[in-house]
Amino acid sequence: MMISERAKKVKPSATLSIDTKAKEMKAAGIDVISFAVGEPDFDTPDNIKAAAIKAINEGFTKYTPVGGIPELKNAIVGKLKQDNGLQYKPNEILVSVGAKHSLYNAAQALYSEGDEVIIPAPYWVSYPDQTLLNDAVPVIVQTREEEDFVVSPELLSKAITKKTKAIVLNYPSNPTGFTYDRKALEAIAEIAVRNNIYVISDEIYEKLLYDGLKHVSIASIDPEIKKRTIVINGFSKSYAMTGWRVGYAAGDAAIIKAMENIQSQSTSNPTSISQKAALEAITGPQDFIPAMLKEFDKRRRYLVAELNAIDGVSCKMPQGAFYAFANIRDYLGRKTATMLIKDSSDMALYLLEEAAVALVPGSAFGAEGYIRMSYATSMEKISEGLNRIKTALQKLT
Ligand SMILES: Cc1ncc(COP(=O)(O)O)c(C=O)c1O
Repeated sequence: MMISERAKKVKPSATLSIDTKAKEMKAAGIDVISFAVGEPDFDTPDNIKAAAIKAINEGFTKYTPVGGIPELKNAIVGKLKQDNGLQYKPNEILVSVGAKHSLYNAAQALYSEGDEVIIPAPYWVSYPDQTLLNDAVPVIVQTREEEDFVVSPELLSKAITKKTKAIVLNYPSNPTGFTYDRKALEAIAEIAVRNNIYVISDEIYEKLLYDGLKHVSIASIDPEIKKRTIVINGFSKSYAMTGWRVGYAAGDAAIIKAMENIQSQSTSNPTSISQKAALEAITGPQDFIPAMLKEFDKRRRYLVAELNAIDGVSCKMPQGAFYAFANIRDYLGRKTATMLIKDSSDMALYLLEEAAVALVPGSAFGAEGYIRMSYATSMEKISEGLNRIKTALQKLT
């Protein structure tokens, strides 16, 4: 067989493939409204673009140190101290080609064959596949909508075995939008330390929290959990920089060094120009973020209210990120003239074909009976998309 056993274990990213299909339909002239995107619909701020253009003009276009330029590492150290109350040294930081790459490096550096990795569901699509790609075993823990989709100490304790190596946390969460407060993190930290488990803490949406909520990093709970945590963050979401591909990890120097060695043999440094842009993003004016957040907040309230007004659909108000995670269980088992809507994938397919609306089925996130709608799109599109969804749902019997 040509393809390796490892490669066969992995499926393509469901969110990216739905977005690709929607884009193909658009290219074929179909007026698709996409709620499938995982990126802000805002342009990268001008000061950040200018820093990149300056880097090009000044010839900053060569290899850089593998783990990132010292100025950027220092700026990340400053950011983690100021925003998160975390003290790291530059050798505890690794800059990578997006947070996804940081997560992958962490998985490569930490997991051995047969290690179990606890992943609370609904989860971001890449965690289980990245675990599989590194010969470890994803242990999916189903959280409950009634508990705002956060993993309780009881659920977590039950999932732990002698083989448990790590737990992957993502807060605010993609897809649910819910986050963990300090108390919930303290309980998880206590369990992780007691059982000597690592925490991969994906905090990429930290700056996208509504209603005055303040992000707490689990690493800031105490020095013991900090030692066992790899904080993952990046520039894609907060600064509308998805295409620039810069993310970073912070953690124990030995783990970071192992991640850097892996990076040195795979991608080398993240793009030199993007690193200069990222440096400007952290050190330059920050007023872009509250402005974007204000717009997202308006859309969040509108979308969630309208979803709840649809018969048989319910959606809890998300606390952060830019996704609404709606419960559509009432519609499963209903029919079109030609099709039975068995699950959320059928629903996503039906809405794409019938209403030209793209969204991601809950099954992609390990949670059946839901759909994820990104509101990183204009109010007009949200409104039109909702009308189309309502009409399509009414046709189901
Ligand atoms: C939870 C989560 N983590 C990580 C990433 C990856 O971000 P990046 O663009 O920095 O690779 C995403 C992007 O969708 C995400 O939603």
